[in-house]
Amino acid sequence: MTEKRFKDKVVLVTGAASGIGKATALRFAEEGAALMICDVNESGLKDVAALLDAQGTENIFFAFDVSDPEACRASVEQTVDTYGKLDVLCNIAGYARLKHLTEITDTDWQKMLGVNLSGVFYMSRDAMPHLIKTKGSIVNMASTASVVGQAYNAMYCATKGGVMMLSKSMAVEFAKQGIRVNAICPGAVNTPLTEQFSIPDGADMDLIGKLFPLIDAAQPEEIAAAVIYLASSDARFITGEALVIDGAQTAC
Ligand SMILES: NC(=O)c1ccc[n+]([C@@H]2O[C@H](COP(=O)([O-])OP(=O)(O)OC[C@H]3O[C@@H](n4cnc5c(N)ncnc54)[C@H](O)[C@@H]3O)[C@@H](O)[C@H]2O)c1
Repeated sequence: MTEKRFKDKVVLVTGAASGIGKATALRFAEEGAALMICDVNESGLKDVAALLDAQGTENIFFAFDVSDPEACRASVEQTVDTYGKLDVLCNIAGYARLKHLTEITDTDWQKMLGVNLSGVFYMSRDAMPHLIKTKGSIVNMASTASVVGQAYNAMYCATKGGVMMLSKSMAVEFAKQGIRVNAICPGAVNTPLTEQFSIPDGADMDLIGKLFPLIDAAQPEEIAAAVIYLASSDARFITGEALVIDGAQTAC
C-alpha cells in the first residue's frame, strides 16, 4: 500500500494537464493530498480532475496562463479559500522551442520568459505568505538547460537557469521561516513537450545530439517521484537544491 505522506496536506500543481505535472498531481493524490490543479489547457485539466474524482481525491481546478500575474494570485487565493491553507506549491507549467538565436523574435523571448520564469515568480510570491503559515515547500521544474548551455535553446536555458537561481534564492531567504524550496533539473522526459520538438533548419547535428541522453529518456512518473520526495518531510534537510535527473547526460 502507498504511504500517505500528504494526508491532510494541500498541494497546488501548475502544468497539471499533461506530462510531468499530470504525473505529479496523480502521485500526490495517491499519497493522500487534496489538490488544486492548474494549467492553460482546460480540457486536459478536466480529464485529470475526472481521474482524481474517480479515485476519491478532493480536487479543484483552475484554467489560466501562468504568465498572467492576476490569474496566478487568484489561483492561490482560490486554493486557500477552498481548503483554508496551502502546504506545497509545484511550479511545473512550461514549454520549450528550439530556434537559431538570430531568429528569436521579441515576442518569442517575452512569451518564454513570461511562462517559464515570471510564472514561477508570480506563483511563488503569492503562495509564500501561506506557505510560511504551514512551514510548506516549493518544488520548481527547472531543467538540465539550467546547468549547461544548449545550442538553439538559448531562450529556454535563460528561463530555466533563472528558475534554478530563483529557487536557490528563495530557499536562502525563507529557510529560517521553515520553508524549503528546491528545483528539479530533468534531461529528456517522454512527454508531449519532447514529442513536439522540431529541429531548426540547418542546425548542426553534433550540437543537437548533446540535447539527448546516453540512455532512454525518463518517464514523467520518474520525475514526479522526485517532486514528491522533495516536497515530503523525508527531505526535511534538503533546500536550495537543484536535483539533476538526466541519465548522466550532463555528467560527461
Ligand atoms: N519533457 C522534458 O524533456 C523536460 C525536460 C526538462 C524540463 N522539463 C520541464 O518540465 C515541465 C513540464 O513539461 P512536460 O515535459 O511535462 O511537458 P507537457 O507539455 O506535457 O506539460 C506542460 C504543461 O504546461 C502547460 N502550460 C504551458 N504553458 C502554460 C501557461 N502559459 N500557463 C499554464 N500552463 C501552461 C501545458 O498546457 C502542459 O499541460 C516544463 O516546465 C518543462 O520545461 C521538461
